[in-house]
Amino acid sequence: MINISENRFYNGKTSPLFNKDIAQQARQFHSKIAGYAPTPLISLPQLAKQLDVKAILVKDESHRFGLNAFKVLGGSYALGRVLANHLSVDISAIDLKTVSSKLDKPMVFTTATAGNHGTGVAWAAREMGQKAVVYMPKGAAQANVDRIKALGAECIVTDVNYDDTVRFASRTADENGWMLIQDTAWDGYEQIPTWISQGYMTMADEALEQAAAMPQGVPTHVMLQAGVGAMAGGVLGYLCDKLGPDNFKTIISEPAAADCIYRSGTSKNGDITCVSGDLNSIMGGLACGEPNPVTWPILRDCSDLFASVSDNVSATGMRILGNPLKDDTAIISGESGAINMGLLYLLATQAAEIHSIATSVDLNQDSVVMIFSTEGNTNPERYRKIVWEGMLAVDGPA
Ligand SMILES: Cc1ncc(COP(=O)(O)O)c(C=O)c1O
Repeated sequence: MINISENRFYNGKTSPLFNKDIAQQARQFHSKIAGYAPTPLISLPQLAKQLDVKAILVKDESHRFGLNAFKVLGGSYALGRVLANHLSVDISAIDLKTVSSKLDKPMVFTTATAGNHGTGVAWAAREMGQKAVVYMPKGAAQANVDRIKALGAECIVTDVNYDDTVRFASRTADENGWMLIQDTAWDGYEQIPTWISQGYMTMADEALEQAAAMPQGVPTHVMLQAGVGAMAGGVLGYLCDKLGPDNFKTIISEPAAADCIYRSGTSKNGDITCVSGDLNSIMGGLACGEPNPVTWPILRDCSDLFASVSDNVSATGMRILGNPLKDDTAIISGESGAINMGLLYLLATQAAEIHSIATSVDLNQDSVVMIFSTEGNTNPERYRKIVWEGMLAVDGPA
């Protein structure tokens, strides 16, 4: 159910791409958007007591701009930066409501998505008076297609997996002169993905500010889930700059069906290692087989543990967050959002072998664990199947 491994490549090297100054720029950009408010950081004291740690803090991204996921932070910031470049102005001069009046005609932004990133790009394009064309891999949930279309974007489901859909979107952008806003990078396509990861730092900046104002203070342990690792890299890069890489422990988690970061981190030389095939997991946002080369170095240099887990780990996390102990707050967390709650629960309660790993990163009564519930119930039908009907029980088939 869980493969977990210590990071042999840790060297604590921070990245110039992700630091508090750039995070401030991103947060200022987001703060100017109508409807902006920091999402809640929720402390779960009863659960912390139950799991024998000092505190569990959950950043609840289901409240992000009414979009039920954090992803829009990246897409919107990248769109802002692209438009700022196009107009030769600083990002601070971009006003979402007036930017379209400065262009001769709307630009077309395109992307491939498992759901949340495309939702964010569609929303940001609409807010800025631009157009969006969104591609989704085969098997895309209808709820996601409908949500993206409702935001005024075109949405097309391909018959290939996520990584091939990215390549398809990239080719289509080239052929049509559209602007690709992709949340992963490759050789020669790094600038926009870097802005996207920088946009995610707003979430980390809020979380740290909120934690610092709470009695237990800043985290000693941070758990980050990865698809391509763009979010984990941006958040970890920021936290390393702000707290110092040696002052907290980081666990990166992924679905076993798409554990490209785990495989890279456990490879002989720490080189990027891809996973291909259908990448079948309920954690659609994490079902990516090719690590983002812009953020991989940070994950390689500064994470402490890599974990690859089965789908029922995240299903367990969804049930725990949605059904709290008395006096704790209920959090609606979707498949890609709840993986780390499930993992923390198993680390704290299960088999001796995983428990010894927990000990190796000093997970104990003094630990303040920060978790990012990066999405709410973006697939409401499956949410009910898992949380109400018990699909993917913890000791059932994965
Ligand atoms: C809800 C959610 N969490 C986490 C991630 C992982 O982000 P990344 O692909 O940057 O690793 C995604 C990606 O789409 C997501 O949708």
